[in-house]
Amino acid sequence: MGKQASAKVCVTGGAGYIGSWLVKKLLEKGYTVHATLRNLDDQLKVGLLKSLAGADTRLVLFQADIYKPYEFRYAIQGCEFVFHVATPQQTAGSSHSSQEIVEAAISGVRSIAESCIESQSVKRLIYTASVLASSPLTKDGFHLKSCVNESNWTPSDIIFTHGFEYMRVFSLFHSNSFHFQLPKTSPNDRINCCEAYTISKTLAEKEALSYNENPGDDKLLEVVTLACGLVGGETLLPYVPLSVEVMFSQLIGKPQTFEGLELMEEVMGSVPLVHIEDVCDAHIFCMEKPSMRGRFLCAAANPTIREMATYFRENESQYQVPEEFMGGEKKGIAFDSSKLVKMGFEYKYDKKKILDDSVNCGRRLGSISLN
Ligand SMILES: NC(=O)c1ccc[n+]([C@@H]2O[C@H](COP(=O)([O-])OP(=O)(O)OC[C@H]3O[C@@H](n4cnc5c(N)ncnc54)[C@H](OP(=O)(O)O)[C@@H]3O)[C@@H](O)[C@H]2O)c1
Repeated sequence: MGKQASAKVCVTGGAGYIGSWLVKKLLEKGYTVHATLRNLDDQLKVGLLKSLAGADTRLVLFQADIYKPYEFRYAIQGCEFVFHVATPQQTAGSSHSSQEIVEAAISGVRSIAESCIESQSVKRLIYTASVLASSPLTKDGFHLKSCVNESNWTPSDIIFTHGFEYMRVFSLFHSNSFHFQLPKTSPNDRINCCEAYTISKTLAEKEALSYNENPGDDKLLEVVTLACGLVGGETLLPYVPLSVEVMFSQLIGKPQTFEGLELMEEVMGSVPLVHIEDVCDAHIFCMEKPSMRGRFLCAAANPTIREMATYFRENESQYQVPEEFMGGEKKGIAFDSSKLVKMGFEYKYDKKKILDDSVNCGRRLGSISLN
């Protein structure tokens, strides 16, 4: 591969689920990592990152908040590659409105891209996007196109019927520590919360990709966006990450996180899934290519909710998947992630491995009983 593993790279949101796994892999490969988190006094998050192999000599931590996006400049300076993984969320006790979250996500991307250009050291910005930004829903929101691919963009005026309880839980997982408090939400948050995440991911990804348009002599920055499916598998965190719990929500019969699956199926037609190992390998693949830019979908499987339930019933028969968590009889929609594969990327984890590893993670951390 083209890249020197001694290169300096930056990971925003380095203490999150995907961020911490990515930092671990980058350190294992010999890279020097500048990781950002919001609070350097958070001993749990700092301790977790500092315990990683190679961290003592090749990990530097920076404090940076998307609501003060200039703070990322210090972490970016001197790096060759920047992974923008962090995303602003509704948090417990957060004073930010949905509108502010969307605006912060977009201006965060803009500010980080500008810092990359100013640094004169950054070659490529890799943005962790979501498949929720690539819905195959038609503009009226009632019909699905036959296939999900990189040409789809989620309509900005989409209204969801699922996702309220899910987003309440979502906000807990994004609070500023490993301990959560239930945030206050009003019925009006129903549309706002669900839309805020999807719209913020859609518009932030478009903003990132706009830096690939008309690259002049002074704008040599390449931008890759990786629109990832629901991420499952193991974790370094001391709790089950939200997306992993969503993945096995049918097994534990938890309506709040099951709504996450329903939201995915409503927006995407099926539930695109990807393993944490493949997600991080895909990020590193996009960095190690000598040259790469553009939008890439990243998911290895695309079952319907019912197909997931059937898998669990057949393979985890000691647990009951209650009827109300089985999902409807639907024909899934085709998910075309061949663009990344044509670049040379190979997925190593299929639906079985993604679901099995998520269940094992849930068992290990006590979210799924061992009966
Ligand atoms: N997990 C999935 O299924 C999935 C799928 C597709 C895309 N993604 C994308 O992947 C990224 C990481 O998600 P995740 O699942 O790893 O979630 P996560 O564990 O909750 O991580 C979220 C990260 O965002 C950071 N963050 C939140 N608000 C911030 C702010 N105001 N300023 C700076 N940083 C802030 C957090 O930093 P602190 O640690 O400092 O709080 C944390 O590192 C997100 O962009 C998400 O949209 C995730």
